[in-house]
Amino acid sequence: MADTDGNREADEYGIGVPAKNQAFFLKGLDHVDWGIKDRMARIFKPSSGHTVMLAFDHGYIMGPTSGLERIDLNIVPLAEHADCLMCTRGILRSSIPPLMNKPISLRFSAGTTVLNELNDECILDIEDAIRLNASALAIMVSIGGQYEAKTIDNLVRTADMGTRYGIPTLGVTAVGKELTRDARYLGMASRVCAENGATFVKTYYCDEGFEKVTAACPVPIVIAGGKKVAEPAALELAYRAISEGAAGVDMGRNVFQAEDPIAMIQAVCAVVHDGLSADQAYQQYNDLKAH
Ligand code: R5P
Repeated sequence: MADTDGNREADEYGIGVPAKNQAFFLKGLDHVDWGIKDRMARIFKPSSGHTVMLAFDHGYIMGPTSGLERIDLNIVPLAEHADCLMCTRGILRSSIPPLMNKPISLRFSAGTTVLNELNDECILDIEDAIRLNASALAIMVSIGGQYEAKTIDNLVRTADMGTRYGIPTLGVTAVGKELTRDARYLGMASRVCAENGATFVKTYYCDEGFEKVTAACPVPIVIAGGKKVAEPAALELAYRAISEGAAGVDMGRNVFQAEDPIAMIQAVCAVVHDGLSADQAYQQYNDLKAH
């Protein structure tokens, strides 16, 4: 029952002190809803403005993949070092302990595998994403591919549902065999994702003109790592991407297939969050590996 007597009079109105009007720390997201900002602030570290996402959703198109045979043994020990985990709902439910309490970028589209023409995908049920407390819905978008219109429709419908429930949409640019991973193509694919409502975009790094890709995308970009390369080269890739405007990495094989995956993810974090050069981070990788 409300007290009617003896209440302290409200008198701390801060008259003359203007209310704070803070800009959000990630580009292009000042006008999205509170729930989306809250989830983005879990995926991206507000202190650096960047993120290190660990991608291990490869099995949904490739089946067992080197380094992902046993998620419980190979990925769970790595996960505590990542800012966000990108996986399918099957792996999340079966193999990731909820006690980890990490933001999840849920693979939200599914369809053909590598045994077929990729990207003929449908989307999952938003209720399941909510049940799983997803922090982002990751949708494959195949610009210039056979399933372009279908994957853009998937993105549009996901962004609409995400907006309804305050969950960010991650547009993942797929690259078909016939398409070149150059700045012109990646810039177009990223921009099309943003134009159609992606809250952030995942694409590939390219050696020439990547700063144009990030500049022309009005929302944050994270880069995929791609095929496994030597550790110094993977750290250089992360360093160059961040220097040229990426807001983070969403790396898989270059972390979990590294000689020492735990040392590798920490070295990637040192580049992305602490501004270490690739050489400095490789030194750190070797120091950690030695212990
Ligand atoms: C992308 O769409 C894939 O499913 C992976 O999430 C992505 O390729 C990132 O992994 P990797 O760094 O191994 O390329």
